[in-house]
Parts: sequence; C-alpha cells; structure tokens
Amino acid sequence: MSEPTLYKNLINGQWVESATGRTFENRNPADTREVVGLFQDSDERDVKAAVEAAQRAYAKWRLVPAPKRGEILFKAAQLLVERKEQCARDMTREMGKVLAETRGDVQEAIDMCFFMAGEGRRLYGQTTPSEMPNKFQMSVRQPLGVCGLITPWNFPMAIPSWKILPALLVGNTVVIKPASDTPLSVFNLVQCLLDAGVPDGVVNIVTGSGGSVGEPLMRHPDVKVISFTGSTEVGGRVARVGAEGMKHVSLEMGGKNPMIVMDDANLDLVVEGALWGAFGTSGQRCTATSRLIAHRAVVGELTERLGEQAERLVVGNGLDAATQMGPSINQGQLDTVLEYVRIGKSEGARLVCGGARLSDGALTHGFFHQPTIFTDVKRNMRIAQEEIFGPVLSIIPVESLEEAIDVANDVPYGLSSAIYTRDVNAAFKAMRDLYTGIVYVNAPTIGAEIHLPFGGTKGTGNGHREGGTQVLDVFSEWKSIYVDFSGGLQRAQIDNAE
Ligand code: UN1
Repeated sequence: MSEPTLYKNLINGQWVESATGRTFENRNPADTREVVGLFQDSDERDVKAAVEAAQRAYAKWRLVPAPKRGEILFKAAQLLVERKEQCARDMTREMGKVLAETRGDVQEAIDMCFFMAGEGRRLYGQTTPSEMPNKFQMSVRQPLGVCGLITPWNFPMAIPSWKILPALLVGNTVVIKPASDTPLSVFNLVQCLLDAGVPDGVVNIVTGSGGSVGEPLMRHPDVKVISFTGSTEVGGRVARVGAEGMKHVSLEMGGKNPMIVMDDANLDLVVEGALWGAFGTSGQRCTATSRLIAHRAVVGELTERLGEQAERLVVGNGLDAATQMGPSINQGQLDTVLEYVRIGKSEGARLVCGGARLSDGALTHGFFHQPTIFTDVKRNMRIAQEEIFGPVLSIIPVESLEEAIDVANDVPYGLSSAIYTRDVNAAFKAMRDLYTGIVYVNAPTIGAEIHLPFGGTKGTGNGHREGGTQVLDVFSEWKSIYVDFSGGLQRAQIDNAE
C-alpha cells in the first residue's frame, strides 16, 4: 500500500504542521485497513496561531464589499461543481455513506455556496421613517470578527458549508475544527474557497480532538461566535463556555424524529419514505426518522412490509454501486447501536428485523449493522426517547391523530417530524401542533433544503437556525443608524411630543 497523504493545518494561508509534531489517522469505516489520510493532532498553540491569523485577516476582509465576497463564493461553487465526484468519493471513503448520498452532501454545499453568493447582493437591512422631520434611519448587519466552527462527521461537507459560507459572506473570518472522523471533506471544501480567491487568514483549519482543539477554540477571547453541531452533551458545554465569554453561540444537536402514519395514508409511499428516512445515512442524521407512530388500523400491515423491505437492503461499502446502506462511523457508534438493541429487547419491544452486527466476508473490517426495526414500542421506552444515531427504527402504535401528535412531541428533542395522510385537515393540524423546527407532509423527516431555516426546538438547539437568511443572524449583529440632516438638535421622544 502507498504511504497515506499527510494533511497539515491551514493557518494564515500556509499549510503547517502542528506544534505537537503528532498526527492522527483518518480510517475508512467500511474497511479500517485503509488509511484515508494523516492529519495534525493539534493543541491550543495551533488554535492560538490560527485565531491570531483570523483576527489579522478580519481587518481587511470585513471591508471587502459584500457583493465581491459573494463573487468569490460563486467561484468556489463552480469549482465544487467541477470537483463534485472526487469530493464525493473522498467523503464515502472517510464517512462510509453511499456515493449517491455523498454526492448529495457535496451538492448541499454547492447549493449553499450559490445561495450565499447571491446573498452578497442582498444582505438586506431596513429603512424606516423617523418620528422627526429631516432625519433618516436604517439598520445594517455588521460582522463580529473571528468565528470558531466545530463540525460533525455525518455531513462532512454540507454542515461545514452551512457555517463557513454565511460567516464569510457577512465579513467574518473563521477557524474551523472538523470532526476527526471526516476532516478531508472540510479540506476539499476549503481548497475550493482558496482557489476561488479567499485571502490568506480568512479561513483557517485546525484538526485534532475536541479537548485539545475545540475547547481552546471556544474559550479564546478573540473568538466572538461559536457555531457547533454535535451531541447535546457537548453542546451544553459549548453553551456554558460561550455564556461566560458573552459569545454568540449557535447549537445544533440531537433529534428523535417521528413519522406519523394515519389510517388513510398511502402505504406504498410510507414504506419507501420510512426506509429512506430511517436507514439513509445508516440512520446517522440528526433528522433521521427514528420513530414511526402508526395508526393501529395500519400498523400490522406496515410493520410486515417494512420488515420485509428492510431485510432486503444491501449493506456494504458505499463505493459499490449495489450498496444501499453503509457502515456506522466508528466502533463507538456501532457499540451504541448494539447497546440500544439490547436495551430495546430488555424493555420488551418486539424485534421485527435486524438487531445484529454484520461482519461476514467483505464486511469483516467495517462497522456494519443490520437495518433494525422494533415494534410494539411504548412511548416512554428508552429506544423511543433517546437518540441512537444508527439504523434503528421504533414503531409505536396509536389510536388517533391527537394521540399521535402527543407521542410525537413527548421527547426531549424537536428537530424534524412528518405526517403521512390524505386528509388535509389532519395535515394542517399536524403542521400547527408538531413542536419541531421542521415538519414534512407525505415525506420523511430528512431532506431539508438550504434556503429554509434548519434547526429545532427543545434539546435540539438554542433557538438559532442554520440555513435560510436566518443563519445570517448567527454571524452578524444589527447596527441601527440615525442620520439627522435638520441642522438642529432634535430630541427623540421629547421634541415630537404634543
Ligand atoms: C443532519 O441530519 O445532521 O435535512 C443534517 C437533511 C439534510 C441535512 C441533515 N439536508 O436530512
């Protein structure tokens, strides 16, 4: 085997080794014998250098006109279009999901590039009439400075793009710490930005662990925004550190997303949608369909059909054209899945299919698990309440729409939800009463598009949204500007009073 490629940190436009002199391996979860690359095992000295570079670059970048910044993002989008296939292949090798999905992941970053490029010519504020004569007033967005971005492995390019691109468009600079399981996809995205003309120091990458890189990054006093996607446990920590430093903190965390199936639903559509929602990305999406809340009139037939179809899904290396579901990302994640299968059984749920690791033949060296379905699940069981982040679907039978919505909302998370019905009244009630950040009608819980706000309620987030123009609120502050051209002193709330 050839020597694995060595990747360095990106600081002030230079590729540099970590002060530690150490590296870590990025291995393929479908075949751990393959090393995708060696990355810097950095520490706080590297973070410090990167933040300093970003701070210096900010002085100039914030003054580049937003439409020009947008043009650079537009060029980056075009480069990403050209490099899409290679980026997708690299991503499948480091993350495991099938090529169709990694192409989708890169496409989501392309979409975000084009969307933010266009935003360079909008970045709208408000003008509003003054109470006074001869006075003008408006609001404009201003950047904050250096943004610290901490990104996950399940959408190795799309999620970094949701953070890097709006941050840059508004005029901030960034230091990103990619997930250690999937750093290469961030390198591929950032290379497009560099090739498109993003100046030195505007984007910096520091790889390494959460403790050695993430922690000093979020603590650094010059980091004004922290945008984090990951577990609720770590997110809570980020929130506390951010609060102490008075930083903007945007958190995107777990989900336990329900799909409600009413008795009038088109079951063909439900089966297809549930398989995609539950087992796409091996269930490793925050938006994954992990609970199927089905009306008792259809739950029997649905369970049977889902079980048959799930058993037929081809699990394997995502680079093989026949593969429909890839591996879990690493041993820890696979262990979590196995543990929840054990918990589900011990809680008295009935296993419909799956429930075991797959390790025969070509799968020996990967973290593969069978698509798994439990039925007769009670709403308060742990498998119905806790995020598993793996290919496990829990079916919960219910009697009515009201009960379905009640069960759907009865979890600590609120990212995405779905309802399948042909009844427009039921659909509208669900749209109103499902307390999640995203609701789908006759579609599964995954597949959000980048130009609407993305995020969730309750334990899923802290009120911020990625995507849409709403993401700009994370990476900017409002400035209200009053211009008095009366030539005299006009005292607000005093001179205009009767
Ligand atoms: C995630 O689940 O972590 O909506 C992100 C979706 C994708 C993004 C998912 N566009 O399923």
